[in-house]
Amino acid sequence: MSASIQSEDIEIPVSREDDLDSAYGDEYSSSTASISESIREFRKLANRTYQNYKSLDYCDFADQFPSAEVIGTDLSDTMPSFVPPNCRFEIDDAELEWTFKPESFDYVHLRYMLGTMADWPKLYGQAMKALKPGGYIEHFELSVVFECDDGTLSEDSPLVRWAPTQKEAAQRMGKPFGIYETVKRDIIAAGFEDVQEHKFKLPVGPWSSDKKMKEIGLWNLFFFLKDIEGFTLYLMCKFMGWTHTEVQVWVAQITAALKDSRTHVYYKATVVYGRKPLSATE
Ligand SMILES: C[S@@+](CC[C@H](N)C(=O)[O-])C[C@H]1O[C@@H](n2cnc3c(N)ncnc32)[C@H](O)[C@@H]1O
Repeated sequence: MSASIQSEDIEIPVSREDDLDSAYGDEYSSSTASISESIREFRKLANRTYQNYKSLDYCDFADQFPSAEVIGTDLSDTMPSFVPPNCRFEIDDAELEWTFKPESFDYVHLRYMLGTMADWPKLYGQAMKALKPGGYIEHFELSVVFECDDGTLSEDSPLVRWAPTQKEAAQRMGKPFGIYETVKRDIIAAGFEDVQEHKFKLPVGPWSSDKKMKEIGLWNLFFFLKDIEGFTLYLMCKFMGWTHTEVQVWVAQITAALKDSRTHVYYKATVVYGRKPLSATE
């Protein structure tokens, strides 16, 4: 069975040892070049060059639904230089009272927002208010827990310590990281109905024999290796009292563990969506 069906119940197939060596040796060592090329291609979607690939979700959505008016928001300026004509971007703090007209949206989408909100029930409540009756909320979120199905992740791996360390720091910051586990619960508690959840696995590293999973794994590895120091530095120094050197050692350990082709780790992602009741009045 192909691992492209990404349910959390399905094991991601693993490449043979000798194929793996070559995947990490050839593809990973040249991955900076090849993935940079992919990102460049990715940003040129629909003949447009996007400056910031973070913005692609709402630009993509606007391209896909030309009759919809799409508003992308973020606390920081992630505005690309060219956006589809039916899309606009606003710098907005989603933790403050939303100023959107009540019952004005058909759909509210949240993606990869762990560690950004102190009060998720309040956020979903605000989304409920902004949606028209019958409108949908959808939240795509990642788990911070590295897992493995074939026993290649040993108990003493720094990857096992990663999630509790990140969660502890985020807890001290007052904005939880472990929301993968609570998205569905909180969306139901906010009053949405017919709430559905789909969980799936995303490999880190090109260790799968499945072509799609292998490509996702390579992207994921690249994503971690590029970003890990940035988000770890702030959290660990500010909330855990670590020194810069301690963070660098920690990042080096995590990096080495992720690049070890013998460890077949993945993390889980979830998509939760639900409908505002037709009878709801905001
Ligand atoms: C992990 S990034 C994900 C970005 C984007 N949603 C994506 O999927 O690529 C988290 C984003 O949340 C934004 N953010 C943090 N606090 C926020 C807030 N209070 N209101 C709105 N955006 C916020 C950050 O600026 C950052 O771009």
